[in-house]
Amino acid sequence: MGKYNVENQDEYLLKHNLLDADTFHELEQLEAVAFSIRSTQLEEEGYDWLFPISIKCIKQLHYYLFQDIYAFAGEIRSVQLIKDNTRFCQAAFVHQNLEGICEQIKKEPIWISREQAAKRLAYYKTELNMIHPFREGSGRTIRIIIREHAKMHNFYWNFNEIDNSSYKYAMIESVTNNRLLQTIIFETLKEGKS
Ligand SMILES: Nc1ncnc2c1ncn2[C@@H]1O[C@H](COP(=O)(O)OP(=O)(O)OP(=O)(O)O)[C@@H](O)[C@H]1O
Ligand SMILES: [Mg+2]
Repeated sequence: MGKYNVENQDEYLLKHNLLDADTFHELEQLEAVAFSIRSTQLEEEGYDWLFPISIKCIKQLHYYLFQDIYAFAGEIRSVQLIKDNTRFCQAAFVHQNLEGICEQIKKEPIWISREQAAKRLAYYKTELNMIHPFREGSGRTIRIIIREHAKMHNFYWNFNEIDNSSYKYAMIESVTNNRLLQTIIFETLKEGKS
């Protein structure tokens, strides 16, 4: 375990926030606004630069989204992270596991059906979530990667259609079985780029 233990995540985020938030509630509100501005800018610019995918591109994505919010934007985490009962990848293996996933994404074969697309996307979503590359903001960063990867294969994943509680439940389930996540992705996936 690194310098900071997992128990003081909220404290750590507050300490390293660039928005001058004094309470976690304030941070959540300011963070949502700052994130929304940057993600809208990115949507306008497009994501051509994200591919071929690499750790560098993933860090750049996180940096862009969180640069106004956290001092650690764009930095791969160096501490252990736990959410509820889920213990994510050990910090020492994050880099190599992320590299492995990038290599797989680069070699992704053509998808012949929406079922196959959903299965592959659920696989990557689960793996990237278990790697959980960043101290905070991994969920948002990964959703964009998955959506853009789908677009490269001519499928559009509209994650905004998913309700929060079923998403969270599917993500918890995905730690041991990603079938529910596959279904949720399938239902919000269509052919085409938009
Ligand atoms: N108990 C859990 N087990 C496994 N994965 C989880 C669990 N709880 C949440 N997650 C995943 O972790 C993500 C949250 O991670 P993080 O807080 O780093 O990112 P975020 O960008 O703030 O995400 P979000 O916008 O989804 O809240 C969720 O999107 C979900 O995919
Ligand atoms: Mg979060």
